[in-house]
Amino acid sequence: MLYEIQTYGKDVLRTDTKQIPEIDDSIKQIVSNMFETMYAAEGVGLAAPQVDKSIRLFVIDLSPLEENEEKRVFINPEIYAFGEEKGEYEEGCLSLPTIRETVTRPTTIRIKYQDLDGKLHDEAVDGFLARVIQHEYDHLEKTLFIDHLSSLKRSLLKKTLNKIASGEIEVEASENFEL
Ligand code: NI
Repeated sequence: MLYEIQTYGKDVLRTDTKQIPEIDDSIKQIVSNMFETMYAAEGVGLAAPQVDKSIRLFVIDLSPLEENEEKRVFINPEIYAFGEEKGEYEEGCLSLPTIRETVTRPTTIRIKYQDLDGKLHDEAVDGFLARVIQHEYDHLEKTLFIDHLSSLKRSLLKKTLNKIASGEIEVEASENFEL
């Protein structure tokens, strides 16, 4: 089942998210639907608030971009350490159609999370995966990538943001592998 992707202006993107106490069949169904929705939109990452669910869950699949990557599910994630080094990358987001801006983020992180079987993981991550995890994790923290931009940059995006909020610009599958 495809979910409707929630775009800039929807309250759910700015709402607190709840821990998932038990990974039951309903959570597994949500995960399955999120992958379906992400693939249909040609994204490589999707967080629960983007499909109107205020729970701490995101999915990532970088296999269209990187070898040896596969579907990944992050439940109740916690990024608990960031490396000192920072890197830049032009990010996009399914909830911010047509906007792409350079965002500076730490290049390495440490994250704890549960997988779909409830197994706990504690991993050091770098490279593009670290970038995508931070972007999706931000969604769980009510943060969008535009929040990381300077106020000048954000003010230049105002017209486009208003068009997204009014529905004039809609989500479209693109070949940009949005997050
Ligand atoms: Ni996003």
